[in-house]
Amino acid sequence: MSAELLDGKAIANEIKQELGKEVAKFIEDTSVVPCLAAVLVGEDPASQVYVRNKQRACERVGIDSQLHRLPAETTQAELLDLVDQLNASSEVHGILVQLPLPGHIDATKVLDAIDPAKDVDAFHPDNVGRIAQGRPRFLPCTPHGVQQILHRSNIPVSGQHVVVVGRSDIVGKPLAMMLVQRDSTLGSAAANATVTVCHSRSKELSSITREADILVAAVGQPKLITADMVKPGAAVIDVGINRTDEGLVGDVDFDDVREVAGHLTPVPGGVGPLTIAMLLRNTLTAAATQNDAR
Ligand code: GUN
Repeated sequence: MSAELLDGKAIANEIKQELGKEVAKFIEDTSVVPCLAAVLVGEDPASQVYVRNKQRACERVGIDSQLHRLPAETTQAELLDLVDQLNASSEVHGILVQLPLPGHIDATKVLDAIDPAKDVDAFHPDNVGRIAQGRPRFLPCTPHGVQQILHRSNIPVSGQHVVVVGRSDIVGKPLAMMLVQRDSTLGSAAANATVTVCHSRSKELSSITREADILVAAVGQPKLITADMVKPGAAVIDVGINRTDEGLVGDVDFDDVREVAGHLTPVPGGVGPLTIAMLLRNTLTAAATQNDAR
């Protein structure tokens, strides 16, 4: 058997088309143009590519974007000053501080300083708490992208055993919280999962992953997930983006797992494009909420 590939790029394009129409209507109704401010500190090549892709995507759907590039030597106080300015700016609706930040900066302090109403990454504890309680202000971009891929590929989540490998604050933990809820923005069929979260200390990892109806790999280890770790017919979602000598490689051994899985996302072209689409969604939500509050 060869898995059906889930085309994240096509799904993201579909979402961006929908968003383009919503943005145009919002601008027509309010005369407000949603605006995302991205902050990039230092010269990390991968971060530069990500930020450029995010800006291009904004442009495509009619969202304004600002790029604030700061040198790697920027102090924490200087970065916090910029965040304060962006928090106060009525032109800016969403703020994204690209991670990783240089080692001398405390990323938690900086992320906590972002106004929760402009926190389009949904990293602020206020927003994380809301997700945990099932009343989100914003959905975190990559977990929401995973949920959208499953939903739009007609892969039911309700009642299924989802195994998430990875417990990061960006993907593993929020995804687990979202999928275990009774309901979601995509309806109850896209939630209500039985969720297991595995990590580097999990014993017998492959015996757990083999139980998964839906297996999500989000650890940042190239080709960690091999065919023997996958239940035949399972949906396998690869969140990993690892730069290796072979080029971009996911956390899933694609050629191996393709022979057992029922559905599989490629890398690149799987979850990545969805992350950006969901960031655009959050920027529009932020603009709408801030406009309503005026
Ligand atoms: N770096 C890698 N992924 C992300 C993300 O989702 N948001 C931000 N701000 N930085 C990242």
